[in-house]
Amino acid sequence: MSFKKKHILDMASLCVDEVNIILNTAEMMKEISKRHIKKVPTLRGKTIVLFFYEPSTRTRTSFDIATKRLSGDSISISANSSSIVKGETLIDTARNIEAMNCDIIVLRHPCSGAPHMLAKLLKNTSVINAGDGMHAHPSQSLLDLMTVKENKGSIKGLRVAIIGDIAHSRVAMSNITGFTKMGADVIVAGPPTMIPSGIETFGVSVTYNIDEAICSADVIIMLRIQKERQEDFFFPTEREYSKVYGLTNKRLEKISKDAIIMHPGPINKGLEISAEAAECFQTRILNQVTNGVAVRMALLYLVAGG
Ligand code: CP
Repeated sequence: MSFKKKHILDMASLCVDEVNIILNTAEMMKEISKRHIKKVPTLRGKTIVLFFYEPSTRTRTSFDIATKRLSGDSISISANSSSIVKGETLIDTARNIEAMNCDIIVLRHPCSGAPHMLAKLLKNTSVINAGDGMHAHPSQSLLDLMTVKENKGSIKGLRVAIIGDIAHSRVAMSNITGFTKMGADVIVAGPPTMIPSGIETFGVSVTYNIDEAICSADVIIMLRIQKERQEDFFFPTEREYSKVYGLTNKRLEKISKDAIIMHPGPINKGLEISAEAAECFQTRILNQVTNGVAVRMALLYLVAGG
């Protein structure tokens, strides 16, 4: 099967074969990053615009590094240093970028659906979703899948626990879709106020007891508390949240020694995960970051025509 997607918008619109093509391509791309000279000419002549309406360290930097390792030209635009501050709309800004013959727009936006809207309206430019509101973060899910596959050999049949602020997390939604699609058994856990009702319809089990979720898990994905998306109070105090729903040192002793611990970052150390748990031998958090570059190289390569 060849890869024919023009845009990467969410995990729901990728089939199993397409996910496998991306993961296999990312494995090859990872090898490039280990070379003494980490550069190939694959995207020479292609222009990639990194258009970020929200702050980012990992996603923006890794898309930038990915473009440069493939010899493409990357340009960064942020909301507060562009004409968006003068009132220009997302659509008009994107149409102006397209008029400059750019090949791919990588968009992070606080509104769910913004990349989908651009994908419909732009004629020639590909769109890659780098996180839209509480909806989707497909490149994060793909790098998480890559990290699990690398560590566990395969994804099918694994028990994956996703813990914390499910309701506000685009990573949670993309990983629920991504891991269930690839045959994992997914359980979500967190405070009832942070688990959307009806989440079971996405094919996951639900518990409000984190110990139940992590005790037999092969993969534990801790989520950041998304303070920037919370207008209300969803838990009484941070201390209580950490005690009841955090991956504490006490809980670390109870998980399987074969389980791996992941977190998309940035981490609120001492809140959803203790510093010890984030840095123990079972953590794969920095491996996720390394794989982020490989996955984003794969996405740029495939979207640009393979
Ligand atoms: N995981 C993630 O999206 O991190 P950034 O917000 O730093 O890009």
